[in-house]
Amino acid sequence: MTEIKTYPPSADFVKNAHVDAAKYREMYDRSINDPEGFWTEEAKRLDWIKAPTKIKNVDFSYPDVSIKWFEDGELNVSVNCVDRHLATRGDQTAIIWESDDPEVDRHITYNEVSRQVNKMANVMKSLGIAKGDRVVLYMPMIPEAAYAMLACTRIGAIHSIVFAGFSPEALAARVSGSDAKLIVTADQAPRGGRNTPLKANVDKARAICGDVQALVVERTGEDVGMKEGLDHSFTALMAEAAEDCPPEPMNAEDPLFILYTSGSTGQPKGVLHTTGGYLLWAAMTHEIVFDYHDGDIFWCTADVGWVTGHSYIVYGPLANGATTLMFEGVPTYPDVGRFWAVCEKHKVNQFYTAPTAIRALMAHGTEPVNKHDLSSLKVLGTVGEPINPEAWNWYNETVGKGTRPIVDTWWQTETGGHILTPIPGAIPTKPGSATLPFYGIVPAILDPQTGAEITDTVAEGVLCLKDSWPGQMRTVYGDHERFVKTYFSDFKGYYFSGDGCRRDEDGYYWITGRVDDVINVSGHRMGTAEVESALVAHPAVSEAAVVGFPHDIKGQGIYCYVTLMDGEEYTDELKTELRNWVRKEIGPIASPDHIQWAPGLPKTRSGKIMRRILRKIAENDYGALGDTSTLADPSVVEDLIENRMNK
Ligand code: WT7
Repeated sequence: MTEIKTYPPSADFVKNAHVDAAKYREMYDRSINDPEGFWTEEAKRLDWIKAPTKIKNVDFSYPDVSIKWFEDGELNVSVNCVDRHLATRGDQTAIIWESDDPEVDRHITYNEVSRQVNKMANVMKSLGIAKGDRVVLYMPMIPEAAYAMLACTRIGAIHSIVFAGFSPEALAARVSGSDAKLIVTADQAPRGGRNTPLKANVDKARAICGDVQALVVERTGEDVGMKEGLDHSFTALMAEAAEDCPPEPMNAEDPLFILYTSGSTGQPKGVLHTTGGYLLWAAMTHEIVFDYHDGDIFWCTADVGWVTGHSYIVYGPLANGATTLMFEGVPTYPDVGRFWAVCEKHKVNQFYTAPTAIRALMAHGTEPVNKHDLSSLKVLGTVGEPINPEAWNWYNETVGKGTRPIVDTWWQTETGGHILTPIPGAIPTKPGSATLPFYGIVPAILDPQTGAEITDTVAEGVLCLKDSWPGQMRTVYGDHERFVKTYFSDFKGYYFSGDGCRRDEDGYYWITGRVDDVINVSGHRMGTAEVESALVAHPAVSEAAVVGFPHDIKGQGIYCYVTLMDGEEYTDELKTELRNWVRKEIGPIASPDHIQWAPGLPKTRSGKIMRRILRKIAENDYGALGDTSTLADPSVVEDLIENRMNK
């Protein structure tokens, strides 16, 4: 094994950092030994209408899982993200918006955000939205997406953001899944020089899920056919809206948002986050993990359609009175230097992106990076999937010039914010390791077979968390049983992450990837069951099995084995059709990389598909097929290998 280098922060960095090594140890210990005291103190980061006196009330025991934080506290999220900053920083830029078009950007002050959020909240009220109602957001990356989120929180509505890359079918499922009363959308979403027809997609979705009214932001001004009484022009309603909307006092445990995410079985589930704990976790991790200081320019390149965008474009930064950069475009438009051009133009201090983006840009060499002045950068972050050491080193040397700490943050939609992560002034990094737990986090590595916790420092198994933290999801929207079953039934008394993990001799954690039937495509979670169910919905398909395989840029690609109905012909045209079909059913991110015809699938005698074997074939790893003797018909494996060669 090659020796792993450790990268301590520079003395200069440590000097100005919020947290150094000693402080991390002291705070971490206190968070574990005295959670009540620790979180009573940390809760003061937020402005409460009524400060909480009950801090933590958590039960992880199966099947009575219940998670409550700050349960008698009252607050309003929009007040914390906007109003409370107005007296001291009303004229400070809250949002820097960088359009898809490199010539266009805007600086939006906290005063302006306040005006827009209040008015938009009044618009929502005028459309009949009240506390507890669900509002779906299907938006481009424009400031109105942030206004809409905050407007929901102002009146106590629950938002559910659907990534603009999802298809009308996926949108419809999420609209009906949460019984939404309103869809906030835009005419079109410009990205990489092309326009996604969001409003037209909403129309198609409504043909499936029934009529739900839409508030349509005019982004490109394209004529999108507004239906009287059903579609409302954002510009028109905002022109009439009153500028003041009193904030709704919310209990800390009132729902804040729903965000659908894929799991190993069934259709995506609605992860539910609540008001107090989530906001505290987002704010606290944003400040500490990125070492955010007043006046810094923070840029998270995610989309608000994912949890990363929720926590680190909108809620965390704005709760901290930060300047957050919101980017509408893609890393490769108009050219592969766009990220670095934006960093230079807006003097970005903290830059947070995904390993897949780093790998894609790395392929274009150092020149597009070196053309730009990146001297403003202080901290670099990654999230979404394990980062391979080559990409880490390139990020460190080419982008960070070898002097900026890199924070490889491991977390999930379910966790609300960072869980395992370096704190840049405190924790020396190792390329590819998410290092150590954040305050309040007690990781455990369990033996997947026996379920026993491995207490030796050096360990390998599945990653669980032993106790709750304020940012933890509370339930699956409308299906608490599914929540308990998914996260608390395999390893009783623990939260099960679904990830494999190794702990080294220094106690550092190394995520090895998902251990369930979830694949990570470019940092986006995709359930193999979802792709399978999209495939079998096609009239020509009788059966499908989907697995992940290693992919240079995406991390993992999507490999589909497909059996057709009797009498159907196995043709290349049909492969193309199926690929388009999956894009239509789910969205372009679910687009199969390979479809292999599989007239027979490897099954046990009881009819269970042996995915282990399919994974190995997809990985081109035939030496390790393992025991195939329990197969009903072992010859199908030979056929599949044969066909893989010819694919
Ligand atoms: C899954 C969660 C958290 C926001 C983005 C994805 C993988 C995430 C890392 C990392 C290794 C990572 C895990 C996790 N993952 N960050 N730093 N190192 N793996 O959120 O869609 O909920 O996916 O992403 O497998 O379980 P998500």
